[in-house]
Amino acid sequence: MSAIFEILDKDAGGRIGRLRTPHGTVETPTVMPVINPNIQLISPKEMKSFGAEILITNSYIIYRKEELRSVALEKGLHGLLDFDGPIMTDSGSFQLSVYGSVEVTNEEILEFQQKIGSDIIVPLDIPTPPDVHYKRAEEELGITVERLEAARKLIQGEQLLAGPVQGSTHLELREKAASHLKDLNFEVYPLGAVVPLMESYRYTELVDIIAASKKGLSPASPVHLFGAGHPMMFALAVALGCDLFDSAAYALYAKDGRYITVNGTYHVEKLNYLPCSCPICSKYTAEELKKADNSKREELLGKHNLYATFAEIRLIKQCIKDGKLLELVEQRCRAHPRLLDGLKKLYTHSSWLEQLDPATKGTYFYCGPESASRPEVLRFGKRLDRFSLEGSVLIRPGPIKGENDYDQLLTFKAPFGAFPVAMEEVYPFNAEVPKFPDYEALSTALSNTLKLMDLNPQAEFTFVCEKEFKHPLIEKISNRAKLVYREPEKKNEK
Ligand code: GUN
Ligand code: ZN
Repeated sequence: MSAIFEILDKDAGGRIGRLRTPHGTVETPTVMPVINPNIQLISPKEMKSFGAEILITNSYIIYRKEELRSVALEKGLHGLLDFDGPIMTDSGSFQLSVYGSVEVTNEEILEFQQKIGSDIIVPLDIPTPPDVHYKRAEEELGITVERLEAARKLIQGEQLLAGPVQGSTHLELREKAASHLKDLNFEVYPLGAVVPLMESYRYTELVDIIAASKKGLSPASPVHLFGAGHPMMFALAVALGCDLFDSAAYALYAKDGRYITVNGTYHVEKLNYLPCSCPICSKYTAEELKKADNSKREELLGKHNLYATFAEIRLIKQCIKDGKLLELVEQRCRAHPRLLDGLKKLYTHSSWLEQLDPATKGTYFYCGPESASRPEVLRFGKRLDRFSLEGSVLIRPGPIKGENDYDQLLTFKAPFGAFPVAMEEVYPFNAEVPKFPDYEALSTALSNTLKLMDLNPQAEFTFVCEKEFKHPLIEKISNRAKLVYREPEKKNEK
């Protein structure tokens, strides 16, 4: 039998995977629309037409309400929701975090999820909020871990079991929890209690929490970012290795009159145009959406929100196939300055990402100053000792007259630095980069070049520099190499 989770493609920390459940296989990354068993704005059956492959609902809501509970016990969860694909069930932990207590034990809710035929079962973990003292986070994590261990003993059949990683904003606790849970072999690892961080745009801390947790887990395990439903941050989270999301946002936002786009959210009252071509936005105008009565407006917005959400998932998957995920992340993180902070934080983990990132891909596009910190650039900087240079070495930006008089010829290209001419067409040196490198690209390229010079003390360097390159490191290079300035190209030249 094939593995529960199989990885088909990779890019940065992101991957396209296949997760096998009792009710079918789903392709990840994907979003699980949250189904409220009480109110259904859009029916579970309809969800497939938006692109949903798996749903998530709350077993505690079903457990507590007699009408739902008896139907679920009699006809099963899939009968209750009238959906024949995979369904994940949450445990009531969210209610625990909001109301402080729940009227069910870990064992009771596990057994209930098992009985009603959930595809992915979640134990009653404790979602410790951000910023609590280490002591509290550690104590609550201890209880969560005990409950997860008990759950692992109870659930051992076809149904998948999720092991939520907690630890609040304490990164060492997150990593410790993750590496402990790794040994218990859960089929899915949700990262818990991150909703308050996302609600307050604390993306840098979110990035660190995902990275810390991922470092403790096996890279072969699927990871679910609990409560993440806004498509604006999916690419960032996928690049860090998240495979599953769940969205109540599509419905909650619709209820509030909010229209989701990957660049942020609009209130429908403020929309003059609909910047989308989904079936809803093709059929209605902004004016018609505003004028629709409340329940119709909510339904239309909910549908648009789902279309926008799954369109982004498909784009992310295409970008993984094409090796362009980080280009997409860099674009998406322009949607909000706090996401930009998140992007910068992402690249502080480049050394870890570099180990996950495929060594060869099709492309590298320089999209902005952050691109200078991408894993590919870092990898090149780490491998400079692989070149050994002797005699006269010419480093130049492109072909120049007389270059064949030197023993060795290197090309200078920001943000990488200097590399053998023969590698120009090889990834990542075939990168598409701006004609005028920014400060960050020059910083990385020049410091890599200096490093290369230091590694080859016996070589005699000549560095041909474009006149328009302005950077303090150029002076340092001039102390080590013969510096020659090249005039800017004339228009009529090639
Ligand atoms: N939903 C959002 N966050 C959480 C969490 O940390 N645990 C569980 N079980 N459900 C959640
Ligand atoms: Zn639309």
